[in-house]
Amino acid sequence: MNLVILGAQWGDEGKGKIVDLLSSEYEVVVRYQGGSNAGHTVMVNGQKFILHLLPTGILHSHTIGVIAQGMVVDLELLVEEIKQIEGKGISVRDRLLISDRAHLVLPYHKTLDALLEKKGKIGTTLRGIGPAYMLKYARKGIRVCDLWDKDRFYSLVRDNLEFVEELCKKVYCEAFEMKVDEVVDRALENFEEIKHCVTDTSSYLLNTKKSILFEGAQGTLLDVDIGTYPYVTSSNSSALGLSAGTGLPPKFFSGAKFLGVSKAYTTRVGEGPFPTELKDEVGDLIREKGKEYGATTGRPRRCGWLDLVALRHAVKLNGLDGIVLTKLDVLDGFEEIKVCTAYKIGNETFENFPASLFLLEKAQPIYKSFEGWKESTYGITSAEDIPEKAMNYINFIERFVGVPVVMLSTSPERDKYIWLSEVFHGKRVGSSNIC
Ligand code: GDP
Ligand code: IMO
Ligand code: MG
Repeated sequence: MNLVILGAQWGDEGKGKIVDLLSSEYEVVVRYQGGSNAGHTVMVNGQKFILHLLPTGILHSHTIGVIAQGMVVDLELLVEEIKQIEGKGISVRDRLLISDRAHLVLPYHKTLDALLEKKGKIGTTLRGIGPAYMLKYARKGIRVCDLWDKDRFYSLVRDNLEFVEELCKKVYCEAFEMKVDEVVDRALENFEEIKHCVTDTSSYLLNTKKSILFEGAQGTLLDVDIGTYPYVTSSNSSALGLSAGTGLPPKFFSGAKFLGVSKAYTTRVGEGPFPTELKDEVGDLIREKGKEYGATTGRPRRCGWLDLVALRHAVKLNGLDGIVLTKLDVLDGFEEIKVCTAYKIGNETFENFPASLFLLEKAQPIYKSFEGWKESTYGITSAEDIPEKAMNYINFIERFVGVPVVMLSTSPERDKYIWLSEVFHGKRVGSSNIC
């Protein structure tokens, strides 16, 4: 049975750790949207890996990693990342497939990203993601397959540079200069390093009999269609992006299991509405205990209580079968823990996540309060060691969102987790009676 793992919040939920640990049971691991804006952290015996473009499952030597067509690929960073991991003794290029239909991120996409940020801040990662998708949908994008024909590639880059130069100068009154030869030569040098990995990945995925894990990047609330638009990323980072991103028909996923990863609280990097944000010492404490600093940009993450209105939105729209709850250990020792169960906007109570930014910005969270637990849950691996008050908290979450919390992650390390509900075999270990 294939498995889809998605971020159920605003990204950085701990997807990397979960994908890594579950990859031991899968033969193929696929990234299918976003690009190097992702930062997926894995800790193995104290050694830290942060993956940006490679599927996280590549760290297991038995897997095949796929960079599918919906990704936007910065070859410069990809080659650097591959070499870094190969430098740690893990082979990559003999197990990596890169879609010939994936679009490229080139240096001028990053220039445009920085320029657009100056004119209206989203708080992007400045990795050129928005502009790469912008040119893709404007039908001016350049794809991996275009690198096979040097002359064609040259003329595509030249046309792109003319367009970007005009845009910068005429629309934004900013100087722009980039040499076609430099961009082309560098891209071709990088292509030489990985060209044997390039293939039609959707045909590969359609034809393989191997088990597949699909690794979402970012999170549902950053999805360009169902997230907090315009404070989102430029791809469909919810389940909506699976079919277009992989090049597989929607019915391919009908038998798959869908798990959403959520922290036991909420974080967000960059601008945009965040109803449960704590701009006080409690928020600071969560940031320090949870080491909430971006894996890609190092920026401090905004922190707040768990927003169950937003999480239920993610459960419904992704069709999640269960939640993997991470970082509960960060809440160890808190006197009081809160969860948001509805929003007050003006005189109205909202139980569903509104589309309008205007409403979201005014949303006041309505909280349910829990007594905290004193025991440490850090690194525990047995359900019996979960304090009763922590279990009450978990049980409330699953009842509220309507699907079970199937797994609890208890530290950054690969082997520190507890299955609470075995969705795959219908077994239940924890005390909840949800499934
Ligand atoms: P991703 O983008 O969803 O893969 O998440 P990031 O890697 O950006 O951020 C998650 C951070 O939380 C990383 O530093 C992980 O090592 C860490 N982490 C993951 N699970 C746990 C957990 O259960 N407890 C603690 N304390 N840290 C965790
Ligand atoms: P992972 O996969 C958290 C955020 C940025 C910004 C917005 C748009 O590690 O969970 P972009 O560079 O994509 O145009 O930025 O999206 N963002 C993320 N936040 N985790 C991520 O990825 C993110 N990728 C993008 O901070 O607010
Ligand atoms: Mg991350």
